[in-house]
Amino acid sequence: MKRNVIVGQSGGPTAAINSSLAGVYRTAKDRGANKVYGMLHGVQGLLEEKYIDLSDHIKTELDAELLKRTPAAFLGSCRYKLPEIHEDRDVYDKIFAILDKLDIEAFIYIGGNDSMDTIKKLSDYAIITGHPTRFIGCPKTIDNDLALTDHTPGYGSAAKYIGTSMKEIIRDSFCLEYSNGLVTIVEIMGRNAGWLTGAAALAQGEDCEGPDMIYLPEHSFDLVKFRDKVQKILEKKTSVVVAISEGICTEDGRYVCELGNSVDFVDAFGHKQLSGTAAYLANYIAGELGCKTRAIELSTLQRAASHAASRVDILEAYQVGGAAVKAADEGDSGKMVVLQRLSDDPYQCGTEVKDVHKIANDEKLVPPEWVINGGTYVSSDFISYVRPLIQGDVSPVMVDGIPRHLYTPRELSERHKVN
Ligand code: F6P
Repeated sequence: MKRNVIVGQSGGPTAAINSSLAGVYRTAKDRGANKVYGMLHGVQGLLEEKYIDLSDHIKTELDAELLKRTPAAFLGSCRYKLPEIHEDRDVYDKIFAILDKLDIEAFIYIGGNDSMDTIKKLSDYAIITGHPTRFIGCPKTIDNDLALTDHTPGYGSAAKYIGTSMKEIIRDSFCLEYSNGLVTIVEIMGRNAGWLTGAAALAQGEDCEGPDMIYLPEHSFDLVKFRDKVQKILEKKTSVVVAISEGICTEDGRYVCELGNSVDFVDAFGHKQLSGTAAYLANYIAGELGCKTRAIELSTLQRAASHAASRVDILEAYQVGGAAVKAADEGDSGKMVVLQRLSDDPYQCGTEVKDVHKIANDEKLVPPEWVINGGTYVSSDFISYVRPLIQGDVSPVMVDGIPRHLYTPRELSERHKVN
């Protein structure tokens, strides 16, 4: 590698996305890249020529270690959809002019299925125009819904946090006595894929029964049947804990969160903001059954919990960052790095690259045979799949009792503005 590399982060952040950034940086430097630039807020920021030289921020080994342990996108993220090439070539000409100005040899984009659309379009444009820059996708999403990869970095840490939190919530729910019992509804991210919600089953073990029910978005949700099932369990237990996906829909295709006071926000890829499902269901159950209810929306916590990160996840995130640079250096373009599971026990996983055209904009859902009990739980195969991904811990660097992170460029530039 003789010229420069540019890397961006895109889509929803995770606890592991910065480990991939660290992997890209280190590998690019080791392979001889002159400069490694970071786009600020992905391709959207790049279009406004917002970027940094990562060497100004990763000066020491400690900085690199802190970066791996810092949640959220260090460079800032975006949900920006490039136009189709035939619709607006000016946008592409602008991006490629910036890449030429920065003498970019490899463009690495760390993101999910929407972000892979960016790699797909830019690599197509490079082929059309005969441009030499190589474009490689680096997988990331807590949703774990990317096609052709066994799993995605970011998922393991979020799953570990969810399994842990569910267990703590279940323990707490048995403490107090309520006349008609307590129903706790925990809302978990993942949009239309139930991988994250299914991870609630990880709470189950010798010391915990796990949640009473788990509702994935792959199955349609029936409000009345739900009430009846909760009522039945309440006849036997004082506490019912239910994990539900933010994306559960009724038979007619409406998101359950839209039945209440939902938010109308829609992003550039047409995704509605899904939020409020647990609150809606908790109110509904309280009204129907007269019991105490509690709605818990794990929200940002599940994707930012680097204090509970999985070691496997953080290491794999670093590994795919490095593999993306290696692929570009070896001449690949229009590809995404995928994780290939070689064995479960002992767990072993390697990397390959696959055509991004077969990945962009697609959604990998939980296989139907892994959803059991009429759509209210996940199978032991599901648990065996996710269990290796949550193994091991990454100790935060603790300062004054709180994990130390690497200050992001945006926070650095904004910290003096408020007062
Ligand atoms: O795609 C990752 C994700 O965390 C989804 O699980 C969730 O629906 C979405 O992002 C939330 O996005 P935002 O933080 O933009 O509301």
